[in-house]
Amino acid sequence: MRSLEILTDEDKEALEVARISVDETGKEHKRKLYIESYGCQMNFSDSEIVTSILQENGYATTSQYDEADVILLNTCAIRENAEQKVRNRLKNFIPLKKKKPNVVVGVLGCMAERLKTKFLEEEKIVDVVAGPDAYRDLPNLFNEVDEGQKAINVFLSRDETYADITPVRLNSNGVTAFVSIMRGCDNMCSFCVVPFTRGRERSRDPHSIVKECRELLAQGYREVTLLGQNVDSYKWASEDESEKVNFAQLLEKVALIDPLLRIRFSTSHPKDITDEVLYTMKKYENICKYIHLPAQSGNSRVLKLMNRTYDREWYINRIDAIRSILGEGCGISHDMIAGFCTETEEEHQDTLSLMEYVKYDYGYMFAYSERPGTPAAKKYEDDIPEEVKKRRLNEIIALQQKHSLERNQWAVGRVHKVLVEGTSKRSEDFLQGRNDQNKVVVFPKLHFTKGDYVNVLVKECTAATLIGEAVI
Ligand code: SAH
Ligand code: SF4
Ligand code: F3S
Repeated sequence: MRSLEILTDEDKEALEVARISVDETGKEHKRKLYIESYGCQMNFSDSEIVTSILQENGYATTSQYDEADVILLNTCAIRENAEQKVRNRLKNFIPLKKKKPNVVVGVLGCMAERLKTKFLEEEKIVDVVAGPDAYRDLPNLFNEVDEGQKAINVFLSRDETYADITPVRLNSNGVTAFVSIMRGCDNMCSFCVVPFTRGRERSRDPHSIVKECRELLAQGYREVTLLGQNVDSYKWASEDESEKVNFAQLLEKVALIDPLLRIRFSTSHPKDITDEVLYTMKKYENICKYIHLPAQSGNSRVLKLMNRTYDREWYINRIDAIRSILGEGCGISHDMIAGFCTETEEEHQDTLSLMEYVKYDYGYMFAYSERPGTPAAKKYEDDIPEEVKKRRLNEIIALQQKHSLERNQWAVGRVHKVLVEGTSKRSEDFLQGRNDQNKVVVFPKLHFTKGDYVNVLVKECTAATLIGEAVI
C-alpha cells in the first residue's frame, strides 16, 4: 500500500512527459481517460475530482471506452447487485484488453475499498485498485502499471477532502452541479458498508466550498447540491478554533452568494436535522424546500437493530417540525429498506403506516442486502426469504407510487418557480426543469432557455412529472 503523496511541480512535469505517447503514425498524443460512475451522487462527484487530477497530469478525456488508454470504473458496494453490475461491466472490456494489452483498467470507489487486493485476484482484467481517498495517487499508480506491476492504494485518510481541486464537470447540463462538502461517515448503521468504504467523517473548509459555488455561478450554473453522507453533521473549525461553522451556517453562507443561485443538499440524517437548519431554509428563498430524510423503517425495534439511533416517534417529530416550519409544500423523500433481519409482518406494516403519515413525494426503496463485514452481517441472520423481501418491497413501492401521484396532484393548479435544465426528452418544443421540491416540470418552450427561472402554472401531472404553462 502506498501513502498519500502530494506531487511537486517537478513531479508533475515529469509525469506530463510520461503521459504523452507516440501513436502508430509517429504523432504524439495525450493519453486518453474514460471514466464511468456507479452508485450515489458522491461517487459521480468524485469522478469529477478524479478527472481534474488526471487532466492536471496530462490526460485527455474521451466518452468512447474503445479509444481510451485508461478505463476507470468508479464503483459502489452498497448492495450485492451494485457490485454484480461492476463485475459484469468489467467483462465487456476483456476483448478490448486482448486487442490493446496496454490499456490500463482501474477500479475506484467503494467496491475497490471493500475488496482491496481481492479485486486484483478475482478480476484478472483489473490493473489498478484505488479507494476514495487515494485519487491524488492515481498518476503514480498508473506509472507502476507502466512498469509492469499491478498497483493499489486503499489508504483511508482522516483529513482528505480534495478541497483545493476544482472538479471537471462531467455530463453537465451547465445549470446544476454537485459540490462535495464532507466525506466519510461516523454513523454505524448496522446494514451499511459506507463507514468501511469511505472512512471517518471530515468536513471541507467552508471557504473552499463558497469559492467553488461562486465560480460555478460565474460560469452560468444556477443550482448547487451540497453533498455528504450526513450533511447535518457538517462541522468545521479553523486551526485556532476562532472560526466554527455548522451545517445551518454553511447553508446560510452559500445562500448569501447570490439569490440567483439555488441550493439543495443531500443527505440529511433524522437524528441530526436541527430546527436551526429548517429555519435557515425558511429564511432564504433560494434554499430549495426539499428534504431527503431516509427513514429505513417505520418500526422502532427494527430501527434499533439497524442502529439508526432514532425511533419512530423521533422521526415523526422531525417530520412535524418540517411541516410546521416549512409548511405543507416542502418536498420530502425517503430511503426505505424492506425485509431487514427479523422484520415481522406487523413491523413491515409500521413502515407502510409511517409512509401514510408522511405522504412522501418520492422514495428510494430497497430489499435488504447483507454486506460482508457489517455489524448486521456479524450479529444477525439474514432470515427473511427473498420472496418475502420482494413482496414487502413491492408493497412499499406501490404505496409510494400512490403518494407521489397524490403529492403531484396537490401541485396542480399552483404556480411553481422552475429552473430550466434543458429541452424535454419527449419533445423539442418543450423545456424541462425542476421546481423547489425537486419535481420535474415540463412546459412549452416559448422564448425561454436553459438556466432561466420560469413561473409555471401546473395544469396536469403523472406520478413522475408535472406539466404546465409559463405564466408571464
Ligand atoms: N447516508 C445516507 C444513505 C447512504 S446509502 C443515509 O444515512 O441515509 C443509500 C441508501 O441505501 C440507504 O439510505 C439505505 O436505504 C440503502 N442501503 C444501504 N445499505 C443497504 C443494504 N445493505 N441493503 C439494502 N439497502 C441498503
Ligand atoms: Fe450508511 Fe448510516 Fe452512514 Fe448513511 S448514515 S452512510 S446509512 S452508516
Ligand atoms: Fe455506493 Fe459508496 Fe455511495 S457504497 S452508495 S458509492 S458511498
